[in-house]
Amino acid sequence: MTAQIIDGNAIAGEVRAELAPRIEALKKRGVRPGLAVVLVGENPASVTYVRHKMKDCAELGIASETFRFPATLAQDELLAAVQRINADAAWHGLIVQTPLPPHVDTEAVLAAVDPGKDVDGLHPLSQGRLLRGLPSFLPATPAGVQQLLLRSGHPPDGKHVVICGRSSLVGRPLAALLLQKRAGANATVTVCHTGTPDMAEHTRRAGILVAAMGSARSVTAEMVREGAVVIDVGTNSVPDASRKSGQRLVGDVDFEPVREKAGAITPVPGGVGPMTRAMLLVNTVLAAEGGPR
Ligand SMILES: NC(=O)c1ccc[n+]([C@@H]2O[C@H](COP(=O)([O-])OP(=O)(O)OC[C@H]3O[C@@H](n4cnc5c(N)ncnc54)[C@H](OP(=O)(O)O)[C@@H]3O)[C@@H](O)[C@H]2O)c1
Repeated sequence: MTAQIIDGNAIAGEVRAELAPRIEALKKRGVRPGLAVVLVGENPASVTYVRHKMKDCAELGIASETFRFPATLAQDELLAAVQRINADAAWHGLIVQTPLPPHVDTEAVLAAVDPGKDVDGLHPLSQGRLLRGLPSFLPATPAGVQQLLLRSGHPPDGKHVVICGRSSLVGRPLAALLLQKRAGANATVTVCHTGTPDMAEHTRRAGILVAAMGSARSVTAEMVREGAVVIDVGTNSVPDASRKSGQRLVGDVDFEPVREKAGAITPVPGGVGPMTRAMLLVNTVLAAEGGPR
């Protein structure tokens, strides 16, 4: 079997197109959705991600601004900046780009974001509400994975989903999302991590396998059930002498061999990445509409 390729760019395009009439309706009410991004320091990956976020907003007519600070910014000054944006009605969404410099207490900063503007879904209130099955802002990557499954014709309902990775950004909220008792979720979820003695024993039983570890090509064909749906969240740079940059991006899944065994698979790049970008826009528009209900 050669797997169906789940095209994240195409599905993200659908999601973005659906936002246009919602943004138009807001505009008629005199509301222009606005996203504020706080960027501390010059981490190259963060600088790139933030640039993409600004570009995505501009394309859809969402107002956006990056509030840049030096890596030496004191924690109380950062908290004061967050409070200023919290209090500014022009910004419906506020995200603090992570990682933050080591002297900053990241949890304290994320908790300082107004939960009504928490479009990254990383505030403890958002994550607690998600765990309880209440309306909440969903972190963009887990929300993107769910949309990829639904829109490619592979609903998780009734399936055994095995997630490799338990971070607060991806694995954990994805598990909470997919085990909710509602259509589009309702899965049986297993979460694996570095404390799992034999990960393959679990992954081989997955109808839907999600790799979110940050471990290049570590999910091999032997670990995948024939016909499984494989979602690769991982983004890892590996050396590649044939490229000008000397490196290229690969996922956590050993793509070519797994593709011969899976029923459907997301590529890297072009799978989960574009969906993460699209779902942040969805959350920003939702925030301008009054937030999750
Ligand atoms: N495409 C996108 O839009 C997008 C968005 C977010 C993240 N990502 C990528 O997704 C990957 C994961 O991101 P993250 O933020 O969740 O990373 P993270 O915070 O480092 O968490 C990685 C998780 O995977 C587990 N893990 C790592 N290596 C493992 C192994 N060999 N066997 C079993 N479990 C293992 C860790 O287990 P422990 O908890 O036991 O340490 C941890 O729970 C990264 O490559 C990141 O770049 C992509």
